Formats: sequence, structure tokens, C-alpha cells
Amino acid sequence: MASSMPLAPTPPMGWNSWNMFGSAINEDAVRGTADALIASGLKDCGYNYIVIDDCWSVKESRDSDGNLVADPEKFPGGMKALADYVHSLGFKFGIYSDAAEKTCAGYPGSLGFEEQDAKLWASWDIDFLKYDYCAAPEDQATAIERYTTMGNALKNSGREFLFSLCEWGGRSPHLWGREAGGHMWRVSGDIFDTWVNVWMPTWNGYGLGVDVSLDIAADLHSYGGPDRWNDLDMLVVGLKGKGHIPGGGLTFLEYQTHMSLWAFACSPLMIGCDVRAMDTETAGLLMNREVLAINQDALGIPGYRVKQNRGLEVWRKPLSDGTTAVALFNRGSAGADIKFTASEIGMLDSSKLVRNLWKQEDIADFTTDFSCRVQPHETVLLKITGA
Ligand code: GLA
Repeated sequence: MASSMPLAPTPPMGWNSWNMFGSAINEDAVRGTADALIASGLKDCGYNYIVIDDCWSVKESRDSDGNLVADPEKFPGGMKALADYVHSLGFKFGIYSDAAEKTCAGYPGSLGFEEQDAKLWASWDIDFLKYDYCAAPEDQATAIERYTTMGNALKNSGREFLFSLCEWGGRSPHLWGREAGGHMWRVSGDIFDTWVNVWMPTWNGYGLGVDVSLDIAADLHSYGGPDRWNDLDMLVVGLKGKGHIPGGGLTFLEYQTHMSLWAFACSPLMIGCDVRAMDTETAGLLMNREVLAINQDALGIPGYRVKQNRGLEVWRKPLSDGTTAVALFNRGSAGADIKFTASEIGMLDSSKLVRNLWKQEDIADFTTDFSCRVQPHETVLLKITGA
């Protein structure tokens, strides 16, 4: 019987291979990543899923029994041994497939093989499935049917899976994803390592910059919660143009805004950079415990926008300890003072303490209104405690 305990009471955290490695993922990279997640302290901060994205199987076909086969050149020890290693370090292990005949990169998908694949992954002790939607029909009814079929197959597999839907938001998975068995769903196309969107002629679509994700998160905030998280895509923090996805990288403040938004919106936090070679700036962005606590807060209420004016935005997120987090986003190209009042963030006109979460410093007291200087593309994250 399915347990009623949420599998994802707070947004899932971990690492995914795609943004850095693309099809070049292999066993050594996964083992090295697992080791580095431990050595760096990332695992201690809560990043505990290791997910292999597309391109892990033999590309040409399944075996003669119809089973997916882990590519013997990339994964010579096989997936079960890799799962055992990852588990021995205390991580959970994730894999990828697609609700059609082929994955986005042209590897075998799971359409028509849902039960067989789910049982195979269960036999490898996999804990997480990211299920993509390339090469599948565009209508919503088919998407619901295909995700439900896989959701049921996972439930029948004898093992508990966190089910991550990836149809990019076009068919409103926030309305049906939970019922299909999902715990998180992408709400947008693929993120790039940029601030602004990038036109991709081969897709006839855009790779997303971080800036536009603010609007996507703002529209969907009320649908997020325990076991039903809006997924803004894997993090690009730390890629700095070196990853597999396009874009030359963001500035430090832009990466900080990216992390702030993902934390604030209760998006899953799946690291995308090469944590084996992480610099201190990246470590600081990924491991600020006060910022992570906003994302992982037990109430699980995604932050929402309370006002905006010419690229200057104030967002609010109620927290389980009765305090309120506030995010001040400056999407514009000039530094500006961003102001808000107590009533705008749902608080009384009594004395309040303001803590800057990125700096981990108490910075001020205020009663009625507060104002803070915010640099272009910067986000200031505050925690406001009433007297
Ligand atoms: C799609 C997904 C990405 C990634 C690739 C893999 O584009 O949205 O996150 O999984 O496929 O091919």
C-alpha cells in the first residue's frame, strides 16, 4: 500500500548530470560527484539526490528481452553497482527516461515499456525518475495518460520512486501532475546559463534565461506545496559558461538572484555544475544555510510577489516559525532603493528585526516601512521577525 507520508515534504535537493555533462556522463563522473558532494559539505546541506539525466543507456536499442541496457562504455560496472556506491554514501539515486519511443537525445524511451522499465529500475534500487516528454504528442490528454501510466508503473514496481515530470509546463502539469503520481514538475523550458532568453532556431523556441523564471514562478506559486513542487529546472549556479548547455554564464549577482528565486519559489534545488571543481564563490551560493532554510521551510509555501514596479519587485514567503521572508529583486539595469511597508508583507506596525540572509547579519529594525538599496540584477533576501 502506498504510504501517506509525503516523499517530498520539502523541495527535493540534489545534483543532476545534464547541465554540465550532457551525453558525456559516465560512472567516474557520478562517483566523483558523489565524493565531492560529501567532501564539500553539500550533502550535509541537504543535497541528497544524485540523478543521471539523458544518454545513460545503449542508444541503438533495448536488449533481446526488451530491457534498457546501461551503456557498457560509460557505465562498465552497471547501474546496480553504481546505485550501491551512491547509497553507501547516504545518497538517493535517480535516472531518466521519456514518455515516447525516444528521449530528447534520441535514446530509447519508455512508451509501451513502462512496467518493465519501472521493475528494472527498482531491481537496480533506483529512487527517482525524471520523465521527459520529447517526441510525444502535444495535447494535454495524452500527456496525462502517459505520465499516469508511468506513475502507476512506478507504484507497482515494489520500490518507492520520487517521480519528476518534465513536459516543460505547456500542458499545465501543476493541475494534474500530483494525481499522475508526480512529486515535482517542470514549469518551463530548458534553462540556459544566461540572464536573458536565447533563441534556438533548431528548437523553434527559446532557451530560458534566469530573469524570465521570475514571471513563471510568480504565476504558479499557489500550486506548489509538499509533494507537488513547481520545478524551475536544474540550477546553473557555478557553470560559468563551462557546462553542456548554451550561455556564457551569469555574473555573481545574477547567480545569487537565480539561487534566491529558486529558494524563494520552493523549486527543487538540483545542482547542475561540476561540484568536483567548485570555486568558493559557487560554494557560498549553494551552501548558505539561511537561504536553504527558506527553500526547505516546513510550511512549504512558495513565495509570491506582493508588488512590482519597473523591474523592482517585492516578494513575500511566510515561514513556519511565524517570521516572514522577503525578497527584493532588481531586474533593472540601475541600482535602486526598493521599499515596502509592514502591511504589504502581512505584518503589523510594530517593531521588527530585519536580517539579511545572504550576509547572515541583522541589519536593521523598522516599524512601518523599510527601504533597501539593491544593485542591478541583485536580490536581497530578508527575514523579518516581529517583536
Ligand atoms: C530535455 C529536458 C532537459 C534534459 C534534456 C536531455 O531538454 O528538458 O532537462 O533532460 O531533455 O536530453
